[in-house]
This record gives sequence, C-alpha cells and structure tokens, in this order.
Amino acid sequence: MDYYAVIGHPIGHSKSPRIHALFAEQTGQVLRYEAVLAPLDGFARTVRDLVAQGYRGFNVTVPFKGEAFALADELTDRAQRAGAVNTLKVEDDGRLLGENTDGAGLVTDLTRNLGMDLRGRQIIMLGAGGAARGVLAPLLAQAPAALHIANRTGSRAEELARDFADLGPVTGGDLDSLQGRRAHLVINATSAGLNDQVPPLPDGLLYPDADCYDMMYGDRPTPFLRWAARHGAARTADGLGMLVEQAAESFALWRGVRPRTAPVIRALRPVQP
Ligand code: ATR
Repeated sequence: MDYYAVIGHPIGHSKSPRIHALFAEQTGQVLRYEAVLAPLDGFARTVRDLVAQGYRGFNVTVPFKGEAFALADELTDRAQRAGAVNTLKVEDDGRLLGENTDGAGLVTDLTRNLGMDLRGRQIIMLGAGGAARGVLAPLLAQAPAALHIANRTGSRAEELARDFADLGPVTGGDLDSLQGRRAHLVINATSAGLNDQVPPLPDGLLYPDADCYDMMYGDRPTPFLRWAARHGAARTADGLGMLVEQAAESFALWRGVRPRTAPVIRALRPVQP
C-alpha cells in the first residue's frame, strides 16, 4: 500500500482526501491518502518523518507552500516560476521533487471544463499574493491579448508583472488602474472573500460576454461572484473545479495515471436548494 498526505495548518476542512479517494477508486490504484496537520514551526520535520515512514508524496497547502519550495531537492520549471510548491513527490532515491499544479489546474478548469478560449482575450487578475503568482505562467501560456494584475497594494502587482514580463503581455497596478479597463475574464486571486469582502471594482469592468472566476470556493456564491452577477457577468465559476484539477495533476505525477475529473467535481459540488 502506498501512502500520501495533504499537509497544512489548519487542515480539518480539506477536501483533498475525498478527492484522492475518488480518483483511486476510479483508476483502481491502491493507495491511502490522509490529511496531516503540521505544527506551524514543524513543516520540514513532518515531511521528513512521513518520508521515513515510507510516504510517497504530499500535497502542500496554506501556509507551507513556500517552505515546500525551499525543502524540495529538485523543482519543475513551473514550481520555480511560481515560487511555491503544492505537490511533493518522493523519488525512489528519497529525493523530493517539487511541483506546482495550481496554475495547470486553473487553466484546465477554464479551458476544458468551462470551454473558454483565452487566446486574444483581455484578462484581469485581482490580487498579487502567492495564489496569483502560482497561476501566472500557465495563464500567459494561453496567449491572452493582455493580462493586467490589479492589487490593493499596487507595487506588489507591478513587481509580479515585471517577474513574468518575459512570458507575455502582463502589466500591474493598483485598484485605480482598473478605471477605464474592460475584461473578457476577471479572476479573483485575493483572499478578500475570507472576510466576506470584494476589492472595490469599477462598474463597467466587464464586457457583455465576460466570465468571472473566483479561485476560492464555498457552499454559497463567493462575495466576488455575487459582485459579478450584479454587474452583468455572462458566466461565473468558483474554484472547486480548479481544486479537483490540481489534484488530478498531482495524482498523475505520483501514479502515472490521469483520473477523470468531471464525476469528482459533480460529487463534491454542494446540492443547490
Ligand atoms: P495568497 O497566498 O492567498 O495569495 P497573500 O499572499 O497573503 O495570500 O495575498 C493575499 C492577496 O489578497 C493580496 O493580493 C492582498 O492584497 P495586498 O497585497 O494589498 O495585501 C489581497 N487582499 C486580501 N484582503 C483584501 C481585501 N480586503 N481587499 C483587497 N485585497 C485584499
């Protein structure tokens, strides 16, 4: 039996054990996957203990993605770019490969599940923290016409845009930089929703056929998606699909088998009243 775990703090509400159990059942892979709470000052120790016990891989979530990046012996290009690791694979020689599947998960959800074509589109990303950084490279690889990052602290967005400027047409600014801009797709990568808030956004931000995507998810529409619905978004989606898709990428890296995601997304989607 091969063992895997998601490591975070807190970790109690993680959906990852359920997702990976469904993947294992569907693909006939024999494995166990559990949630592990690491002490805030004990991420590296927790990983080492689990590796010593024979664990084969880990998902890493808040607040340890930066520490996982530092701990990895080897990094994929996209983990290097993201500056963060959400997936660790224990190689046969015990070395840790660090990967980041968040951006691929987002792009797969947008393009395959939601049927969007991002080529030539105007994209606005709200937020310039770790969540935004983690997905920029795969988004730019879709060849949008422009990707503008708007953040409460404008300098962080400008810095992020500079770091990715070699990959495509990316700019950054404060929330005032949204005045006069329009988007085909607005992605919320801020954590404002955790406090039931939405960054202040201009009324005319959305083209009539615009999509809005919140990387957060919840049992009810997030504050950003409620804003989107009030401001004429053609379509809104939360980050549940991204969560399942990033998990599928991790599963494929560990097991060499790619699970189908649609039935798992359906199984996790709360039943609408
Ligand atoms: P994460 O890893 O989730 O990205 P983070 O690095 O702390 O976490 O970044 C949080 C992001 O949400 C930042 O872009 C932050 O804006 P600042 O850089 O100005 O702090 C943004 N954010 C959080 N709360 C917000 C709020 N109430 N309104 C607008 N932006 C908010």
